[in-house]
Amino acid sequence: MRARHLAGLAGGGVALLGLAVAALAQGGGEPQRAIPDPQSGRHFATPETLEIQDDDFQNPAFLWVEEGERAWSHAEGSAGKSCASCHGDAAESMKGVRARYPAFDAKKGRVVTLEQRVNICREENMGAPPLRIDSRPLNAMTTYLGLQSRGMPVQVDISGPARPFFDKGEDFYNTRRGQLDMRCGSCHEDNFGRHLRADLLSQGMSNGFPTYRLKEQRVISLQYRLQGCVNDVRGQAPPMGGEEFTNLEFYLAWRAQGLPVETPAVRR
Ligand code: HEC
Ligand code: HEC
Repeated sequence: MRARHLAGLAGGGVALLGLAVAALAQGGGEPQRAIPDPQSGRHFATPETLEIQDDDFQNPAFLWVEEGERAWSHAEGSAGKSCASCHGDAAESMKGVRARYPAFDAKKGRVVTLEQRVNICREENMGAPPLRIDSRPLNAMTTYLGLQSRGMPVQVDISGPARPFFDKGEDFYNTRRGQLDMRCGSCHEDNFGRHLRADLLSQGMSNGFPTYRLKEQRVISLQYRLQGCVNDVRGQAPPMGGEEFTNLEFYLAWRAQGLPVETPAVRR
């Protein structure tokens, strides 16, 4: 009797332990993607736009690439160094970097975007002033860096200390905002493939950034695009380069996980 009782308890114990393990795996483990099979914005672009994107000689973003390439080996700041002084050939040292950014920076104790990482090197390793987010020279550098990862799958690490930043980005994504009281997913999950006035709504994937925007005739950074989206719902957009958009950008990279980096994409 007693033995049976114990055996029953042991069985229950194992089941409970199993539940605890499952709960742990859920809490710290993989969150679920609303769109498990993401599609790049290129699926929603017109053939005319794609023709420009797919031809490096036609794609105007390559003017930014060339500018970034020149800046790469141009010494600046009090240390008299260029990026190349420390990182050598970008085609080797920067390959894959864009695909895994934003990333947790242990020294800063937070997630940083590629833009911020460039500015950290400028300030701390070159003694040069940071570049303004979405300015031409910074977009030129990140477009040049992004190109070194073209075709590689987006793969960010949201585990461990990065997770709280991811969770905040996810919250931002799912919060209704603006006079129109819409979430990001109201357009990019519930209505992709449909028209919003002249625009064909995509899934709002970030794998093509920085991107050449035909309407603006310039390369734009992801956070500039995000400001546009928040303005579209008549909301108050947080500043580019700030914590909220950085966490959102981190969440967006995870949403786009597995899509190839397409920097520099072309959009209308
Ligand atoms: C004095 C040397 C030095 C210079 C100059 C320098 N960096 Fe860095 N950079 C580093 C070091 C060291 C790291 C490693 C990250 C760390 O601090 O832990 C790094 C990291 C990076 C990373 C992140 C790479 C990764 O794998 O996560 C990028 C991107 C980067 N640098 C870009 C640049 C750019 C662009 C410039 C020029 C504007 C530049 N760096 C100038 C030393 C330098
Ligand atoms: C009112 C509808 C609407 C809402 C809400 C909205 N967007 Fe957008 N978004 C657009 C339109 C229109 C475009 C341009 C066409 C396209 O790619 O969908 C766009 C483009 C984008 C792109 C660029 C896609 C590409 O391939 O170039 C990203 C990334 C994006 N949105 C993210 C977001 C995020 C994050 C939010 C929430 C903060 C958001 N959007 C909210 C309408 C919206």
